[in-house]
Amino acid sequence: MNAPLQPTSLQDVLAFAAHHAVTSRSEGGDLHPAAGVEQLRALFDIPLDTTPRDAVAVLAELVEAAKPGLSATTAPGFLSWVIGGSHPAGVAADWLTSAWGQNAAIYQCAPSAAVAEEVASKWLLELLALPSDCSVGFTTGATMAAFTCLSTARLAIFDRLGIRIEECGLAGAPPMEIFIGEDAHVTNFAALRYLGFGSDHIRRIACNDAGTFELPALASAMEDSTAAAKIVIGQAGQMISGAFDDLTALSRLCREHRAWLHVDGAFGMWVRASERLRYLAQGAELADSWSVDGHKWLQLPYDCGFAITRHAQYHRRAMTMDASYLTRDERDGRHPSDYVPELSRRARGFPAWVMMQVLGRDGVGQMVERHCAAASALAARIAGIDGVELCHEATINQLALRFTGLDDAQGDALTRTMTDRLNATGRHFLKTALWRGRTIMRVSIMGHETDAEAVVGLARDIEALCRDYAAAANAPLPATIET
Ligand SMILES: Cc1ncc(COP(=O)(O)O)c(C=O)c1O
Repeated sequence: MNAPLQPTSLQDVLAFAAHHAVTSRSEGGDLHPAAGVEQLRALFDIPLDTTPRDAVAVLAELVEAAKPGLSATTAPGFLSWVIGGSHPAGVAADWLTSAWGQNAAIYQCAPSAAVAEEVASKWLLELLALPSDCSVGFTTGATMAAFTCLSTARLAIFDRLGIRIEECGLAGAPPMEIFIGEDAHVTNFAALRYLGFGSDHIRRIACNDAGTFELPALASAMEDSTAAAKIVIGQAGQMISGAFDDLTALSRLCREHRAWLHVDGAFGMWVRASERLRYLAQGAELADSWSVDGHKWLQLPYDCGFAITRHAQYHRRAMTMDASYLTRDERDGRHPSDYVPELSRRARGFPAWVMMQVLGRDGVGQMVERHCAAASALAARIAGIDGVELCHEATINQLALRFTGLDDAQGDALTRTMTDRLNATGRHFLKTALWRGRTIMRVSIMGHETDAEAVVGLARDIEALCRDYAAAANAPLPATIET
């Protein structure tokens, strides 16, 4: 449990936060938020004083108000969505970032932040085995990384067609067609929407059981297209199954059709840090741009993503803002805002520089391998349990499970009920989703503290639940779960 807070100074508050950053991972505590929304509103929605208040007292109140609404995302049993473990070293680097108060907009405003980004970019490209002359923007996450990369793509593609999109805008440009799998992550569709690409110009291509492109369907859609401007968005790590597109084949198709290839590799691109698993994302290095998250397998605290492209000049042209007061000098280093949509911004290079060293070149790959091995072990255990099945092959760290009922509808209800029951043990944090129209339970092994033990415990609990359910085969499913 967290240490009781009786702060008398800001240093006490920092000590408490440090204690929480370390112990919440090992000692656990409540995985699930204890309070509902009304209780949280009552805790937070206090009258706003007209006069200033003591900062330490307010911070102590924040701790008390927030505590019942915290999910233990950093604990080993947290297996939902795709959420990294906010490594304490990254958290500490983030504090320094805040304490230094650097605004990593332009070099002259934050020289150390700019150089930290420059070096962290170089290391990132080494870890991901991407060409060393790619450029990297440090974004809030993969959504803004995709936005940045696709914005670069839009500029570059039209520019090569002789169209100055900066002047005529989309209204003066010919149609662009975007080819994307039906099962691509929703944030790619959002990024396209922000960029002014409507659904009429987005060709949603059928996907296979693993949620990646049916290549013949993509090839024939590209063949049919009369648009001169084309983008293909591939996946390295499908969000449900963890599967990979055949990126070499995608790049070949893109070359044939003069299309830009963007890869959403929010978490999957990190397999390239492992010599053993790199083959899964083979061909990714042939793409034009990549979106990757730092707050997933690099275990950075929220938030950090990377927009990477081999077209550095277009990247800068798409993002750079110029004004006389944004002072630049030829002796400056990198201007961090030249690679992202924001001007004033957090110095994300500091924690990234720290985490890449704390994990080390081999450590990142080894952690990815450890998580994938734990997912394979869970998949093997699941295969031996009657009453539950895996919805796809285990590729990396993501699994989708389904409890089997007499028919689909009963299977859906059972999957929801079993997920509730597993959550009610207090040992796991799991959520359901829809996959191919059916309810599934997702398991994502992503936090650096999550290991084989947490996953074996989950298999054991699933086995016990399925046994109990089979033993009471005639009992109707309970509508709700008693906790
Ligand atoms: C495959 C994939 N793409 C994109 C995203 C969006 O990333 P973010 O939430 O960091 O913006 C995620 C997030 O889970 C993801 O798993």
